[in-house]
Amino acid sequence: MNRQLICVTCGSTYPVEDRRLRCDCGGLLDVQLHMDSAPPPVALAARFESRLASRVPQDLSGVWRYRELVLELPADDIVTFPEGRTNLYALDPAPLGLSALWAKHEGENPTGSFKDRGMTVAVSWARHQGARALICASTGNTSASLAAYGARAHIPVFVLIPNGKIAQGKLAQALAYGAHTLQIDGSFDDAMHAVEQMAAQHNLTLVNSLNPFRLEGQKTIILDSFFQLGRMLPDWIVVPGGNLGNTSAFGKALIEMKALGFIDRVPRLAIIQAEGASPFARAAQGGFQHFEPMQPETVATAIRIGNPVNYAKAVRAIRFTDGVVTTVTDAEILQAKHDLDRQAIGCEPASAATLAGLRRLTREQVVRPGESALLIITGNLLKDPDTTIALATGQTAALGIQGAPSLDACANGPRHVPSDPETIARIIEEELQ
Ligand code: F0G
Repeated sequence: MNRQLICVTCGSTYPVEDRRLRCDCGGLLDVQLHMDSAPPPVALAARFESRLASRVPQDLSGVWRYRELVLELPADDIVTFPEGRTNLYALDPAPLGLSALWAKHEGENPTGSFKDRGMTVAVSWARHQGARALICASTGNTSASLAAYGARAHIPVFVLIPNGKIAQGKLAQALAYGAHTLQIDGSFDDAMHAVEQMAAQHNLTLVNSLNPFRLEGQKTIILDSFFQLGRMLPDWIVVPGGNLGNTSAFGKALIEMKALGFIDRVPRLAIIQAEGASPFARAAQGGFQHFEPMQPETVATAIRIGNPVNYAKAVRAIRFTDGVVTTVTDAEILQAKHDLDRQAIGCEPASAATLAGLRRLTREQVVRPGESALLIITGNLLKDPDTTIALATGQTAALGIQGAPSLDACANGPRHVPSDPETIARIIEEELQ
């Protein structure tokens, strides 16, 4: 299908090969698909599903399998592991009074987060355009993913991260995959501002979700869920909101799926932010009349963002899907993380915001009894071992979380035992009682 870049603010268009990140008016750019050249939805759906039986890497990828709706590139340009082969698990809907509840585990991607879906597209496009170096700002996962894809593509990578505010697993990945890692004295939002300036002035390819090709890849979370659920989508799709890339990508996916005739009824998006990093939720309360950035703070470092770059696209997504934006406390996030971890849907704190948010929305009857919901689990448990161990050892006060006695019940720290089989057997019997 043919594509062009289009400004979401003023509608100006540019050739898809144009290396700009924004419109001349400053607005965000979309990769616009020309739908009139699309095959009929039944034929397209059959083609997507037939690729599941293929052994070609692009067909095995849960991103490139949908290439007609993502991006079409010569095979030699595509940098793929392949990614996007993530499972969708059924959870017990009864405690929330729902008819069905699912979790799509994007932490099962090659670098452990959903970022790989966007990164394979952004880095492949960058290789296609002959990029000399790749750069991003990150709360951790984007840098881990970029480091990996840059290494596979043999393109140098620079990542800017907020000093001391990224989870250990993510830092380890960026270093291990050979990214030039720059820790800045400032927040993610400061880093984001810096990389946008530098990209424009120093011929560096920016691959944050400001890059519209990233979002084309992330749309496939919705496409993949649709096919895994037997060609349907639930009443609600619940996702954490930080820089609002997923929110924007999901909105665009749903707009396109409706226009193409894949779906008649549009699911509602529920965007969940941490209370201490909730500029989008605050704007939503005022009907998006006004936006105010904030100084973010939350245990969920992945979404510790006060000035999301994708704001305008995210507003469009909420309006199109009749969506909602809500907040949860850090204690609620950790409780939800514990509950998901215990079902072996292990995740990092930001991802658990989904269950915490869904709990709040069912309590408030925004999500009604008998409805169905899909949680997007954005990142793997191994990303943030420090928080997991603090939760398991009853050290949540050390994370700055006060007044949450229920979290103490989550503790099951390791017990020191003598190296004596009889004593160990006695302890096992005690524990089994
Ligand atoms: N969940 C996880 C695990 C994330 O890493 C992020 C974002 C989000 C949710 C929020 O997604 O930005 O699309 O609203 N992490 C970025 C990063 C910012 O740098 O890794 P969003």
